[in-house]
Amino acid sequence: MRPVEGMSILITGGGSGIGAGTAEHFVRLGAKVTISGRRQDKIDAEASRMGPNCRGVAGDVTVDTDRRKMIATAVEHGGGRLDALLSNAGNMYRGPIDQLDEQELLNIFHTNVVAGMMLTGLAKPYLEQTKGCVVFVGSVHTQRAFPGASPYAATKGALETLTRVLAAELGPAGIRVGCIRPGAVFTEINQRAGLGDADAAYQRLLGLGSAHALGRIGTVEEIAEAYEYLVRAEWTTGNVLTVDGGLGLGVTNA
Ligand SMILES: NC(=O)c1ccc[n+]([C@@H]2O[C@H](COP(=O)([O-])OP(=O)(O)OC[C@H]3O[C@@H](n4cnc5c(N)ncnc54)[C@H](OP(=O)(O)O)[C@@H]3O)[C@@H](O)[C@H]2O)c1
Repeated sequence: MRPVEGMSILITGGGSGIGAGTAEHFVRLGAKVTISGRRQDKIDAEASRMGPNCRGVAGDVTVDTDRRKMIATAVEHGGGRLDALLSNAGNMYRGPIDQLDEQELLNIFHTNVVAGMMLTGLAKPYLEQTKGCVVFVGSVHTQRAFPGASPYAATKGALETLTRVLAAELGPAGIRVGCIRPGAVFTEINQRAGLGDADAAYQRLLGLGSAHALGRIGTVEEIAEAYEYLVRAEWTTGNVLTVDGGLGLGVTNA
């Protein structure tokens, strides 16, 4: 396993939830971490909380100039190198199939899928030098069917497919590509998608606990550990690593 100390890691969507927790995890292990997100205040607050080994860069992953700024900042912060792109920024959009808004659909594919592809292209020359990796974030939504969640689930299915194809495409350059597939973790994503206030979103997720084989929802730290495995594992590529407490098993007591 590759040591994390001294690695340069870019985490999109690092201003909250899983991204912020993962940034904290890698800073603790001695990496130079760069976090990005659209809300400058969030990015600044998280970067200063984590100290000098974490740098923030505000930006939107759907905007080309912002993506270039994210890569440039990470390379600069990392002393000229980039070891890992954690393409973590994501949004949720849900709705019945006959009531979907086309622009919202395009927006969610832009953020969740297209942006990560474009960032991977920009990161490629740097990752080739370090024999680094890209990690996407899928979801248990590809394993469990949540009626009304087709837009979000479709973007996550696309990321799982991309993981395999890009692992094959970038393998000859020594670049590994992986994907984590989390179960339910309490973060801002559900509130941001308009699924109730923080308390309602938390209660809804807690209610999902019993659907997990292990009987509870997960923590941000547990997802960060999965990211760490894929960043460090030198002979692992093209994999989707499930870290979901058994939610995807679809436990059925009959
Ligand atoms: N929580 C779960 O149960 C769960 C389960 C499976 C997968 N996931 C995935 O995990 C990833 C992280 O989500 P989370 O749960 O930690 O939710 P979160 O706290 O809402 O984090 C998502 C982050 O993405 C950023 N973001 C969204 N759109 C962006 C854009 N256009 N440009 C730049 N940044 C953008 C947001 O910051 P700004 O709004 O400031 O830009 C936010 O900090 C997502 O890909 C999500 O789909 C989460």
